[in-house]
Amino acid sequence: MTPDAHQRVVRVNLGHEGSAAAGDRSYDVVIGAGVLGEIGPRLKAATDRAITGAMLVIDTGVPRTFVERARGSIASVCPVIGEVAITPSEKGKSLATLDVILQTMTRARLERSGVVVCIGGGIVGDVGGFAAGVYRRGIGVVQCPTTLLSMVDASVGGKTGVNLSLGTRDTDLKKNMVGVFHQPRLVVADVHTLDSLDTRTFACGVAECLKHGLLGAQCGDPGLWSWTLSAISDGMLGEDAALIELVARNIAIKARVVECDEFEDKPPAAGDIGRLALNLGHTFGHALETIPGLSPDGNPSHAPLEHGEAVALGMVAAARCAHALGLCDAGLASEIIAGLRGVGLPTGGLGAALPPAERVLDAMMDDKKVLDGSLRLILPKRARAGDPVRVVTVDEPARNTVIGAIEMLR
Ligand SMILES: NC(=O)c1ccc[n+]([C@@H]2O[C@H](COP(=O)([O-])OP(=O)(O)OC[C@H]3O[C@@H](n4cnc5c(N)ncnc54)[C@H](O)[C@@H]3O)[C@@H](O)[C@H]2O)c1
Repeated sequence: MTPDAHQRVVRVNLGHEGSAAAGDRSYDVVIGAGVLGEIGPRLKAATDRAITGAMLVIDTGVPRTFVERARGSIASVCPVIGEVAITPSEKGKSLATLDVILQTMTRARLERSGVVVCIGGGIVGDVGGFAAGVYRRGIGVVQCPTTLLSMVDASVGGKTGVNLSLGTRDTDLKKNMVGVFHQPRLVVADVHTLDSLDTRTFACGVAECLKHGLLGAQCGDPGLWSWTLSAISDGMLGEDAALIELVARNIAIKARVVECDEFEDKPPAAGDIGRLALNLGHTFGHALETIPGLSPDGNPSHAPLEHGEAVALGMVAAARCAHALGLCDAGLASEIIAGLRGVGLPTGGLGAALPPAERVLDAMMDDKKVLDGSLRLILPKRARAGDPVRVVTVDEPARNTVIGAIEMLR
């Protein structure tokens, strides 16, 4: 458990004086190669009373060897009293799946002093974390993210939840409508689990890393942007050491943002960074995700856009808007495009499958940042100091800029 070159620990400091919720909710995020084998002792060290049992919520996509490594380590500190296996899908990220997990926990008589251990991607972490957040009014949860996106984003910050389906069409699925903030007690990110990820899923995580890179100047890591671009162009992201550095530096960015704005109720402000800043590229991205027939290469008969691919396109559109509005130079969009392309993410070329930009803009009005009927966008600035993003309300002149940026994705 001694930190060495093969592991890093990032502390997330939450719940101090002046916080909206009482109590210390700080926790460690352990990042390294093979660290799933240390989860038991680390869990014991993170908990001030005996843990009477652990319920595993596992992702069926994770190779069994990793699950067994974690299970063996947990069993050294408390009984593993059950396991729920989930094959992740956005449709299955539902109240029905939550019910299955809660029933399994209840039947196994998991006590208040027990923990839920989620091993998997963001879907498993979100629904398993939600189950922990509401079971017996809240018990401990350990997040063991196994996709790059869940390592650098979903596992840290305490957002948990499920989607709500209002009907049978894809557009009836309202994402993350129901959930609670429930911070984990511990996060264990084992980069060896990334070896079995397919390249498309891995690349989706890199899109979020590039977004964090843009926030680096404000979050204590001004070199992250150029380091990430170099790591991509030099092909370093297959190596353990580079992956540990990538994950640790990105988690530190997420941690700093969450520390400033745990409950996402602060706007980005000078000297402070609100959680809304993490929405960079997401307003465009979420709208593109809802459009049927959009695929990364513009061929409607190919697989639809993944979330990270839609965010990648959204970041390109956001950078072009920012340039048109004088927030950054044209070079920023070029750097973003180079980084995204370096891992095979789409940056345009959506072709005829992209509906008229007005329709995309209309879909963007479903965004959670819409206030009093006005769309607000998070746009990047080229900031070495000061805010790295600007919240821009889309008024009539800005509307044409947004329409233009969407059209350029065609
Ligand atoms: N809570 C948050 O703050 C937060 C932040 C961002 C995203 N999310 C949520 O996260 C979800 C997306 O997460 P994701 O990108 O991890 O996708 P995911 O959970 O759907 O996982 C993607 C795929 O990878 C597979 N997989 C997972 N680990 C693997 C491994 N080690 N080897 C091989 N395959 C593996 C899964 O079985 C799945 O098929 C969305 O539901 C999103 O809403 C939550």
